[in-house]
Amino acid sequence: MNKRDCITGKSLSRNDLIELLSLENPVKIEQLRKNAENVLLSERGNQVYFRGLIEFSNICRNDCYYCGIRKSNNKVKRYSLSEKQVVDAALWCAKQGYGSIVLQSGERNDSEFVDTVERLVYVIKEKTVSAQLPDGLGITLCVGEHTFETYKRFFAAGAHRYLLRIETSSEDLFSRFHPQTQKIQSRIDCLKYLKEIGYFVGTGVMIGMPGQTIESLADDILFFKKTGVDMIGMGPYIPHSDTPLGEKEPSGYNNLLLSLKMIAVTRLVLKDINIAATTALQALKHNGRELGLRFGANVVMPQLTPKEVRKEYMLYDGKPCTEESRDDCSVCLKKRILSTGRIISLNNWGDRVRMGNDQP
Ligand code: 5AD
Repeated sequence: MNKRDCITGKSLSRNDLIELLSLENPVKIEQLRKNAENVLLSERGNQVYFRGLIEFSNICRNDCYYCGIRKSNNKVKRYSLSEKQVVDAALWCAKQGYGSIVLQSGERNDSEFVDTVERLVYVIKEKTVSAQLPDGLGITLCVGEHTFETYKRFFAAGAHRYLLRIETSSEDLFSRFHPQTQKIQSRIDCLKYLKEIGYFVGTGVMIGMPGQTIESLADDILFFKKTGVDMIGMGPYIPHSDTPLGEKEPSGYNNLLLSLKMIAVTRLVLKDINIAATTALQALKHNGRELGLRFGANVVMPQLTPKEVRKEYMLYDGKPCTEESRDDCSVCLKKRILSTGRIISLNNWGDRVRMGNDQP
């Protein structure tokens, strides 16, 4: 692999991806970081986009072995925000100039839930149209697996981006981390539906899970490419003590560094997509999200979940920004972003210009 290939990402083979993800030499890692940053700056500029994150319910029908809000964890106090609480958080977000929100929850597919999500999207869209946001807030949904028809309803209501993490593209690992009833193929089908409907589609994986290999992570990046995703939200796996996987031996990797390398290599391969500097990075290091931005991420998700319930959305131990004393994260995050030499883009949806595998 020559330096030019590394920058353009044109001819990065599976072996090249493995080589880059395996780098240990700090000088080489810095070179990788710089290359990823250069690709980001030339493809998308130095703007960072906010997506206000509203975790509106922690009720979940899934039982993922790694996740703190899994169905079987009965230590969790289950909550669902009222529609007014969600709409108020969205209005606050629009007032701050964030431009976009993410509505995230545990997975449910009953009709009451589907109706609620549809109505929330519709009302938030209607109420946030302004001179600054002529089409209202951009809405990303992150509410799990649904039928084609349900995804169509959400899209018709006004959601235009959807995030559904594949968690790992390896069928073998997926089946080790989930009960038999949860299938990787079903998630892959959902990603196809979402693309067909016309969403900007996001996915992502957890990095450094027990038994996961560098080869498997390289395959994850190839999966992102093949699927033609527009957005990536991925971060380090962090054990949760009340989960079956929380008791397993750690992977042995430095999950923070591996996550940063994953962000950089994904940027080299997929160039102009949106990549989030996720909260989990900050759980492993106080400036983890800033590092994510410096390794090629361009999206940050300020926490907008009302402070009273934040501690009930503990996906992993030590999730940052869950202290009740913290009201809004904007001041802290602005400082963090500016410290990386980037600028914050307000009142802007901040989408990728093209979609999926379309040629530039
Ligand atoms: N460590 C890191 N990320 C986790 N998630 C769930 N549990 C954990 C964990 N223990 C992530 C999953 C899920 C997202 C909402 O949170 O990737 O899709």
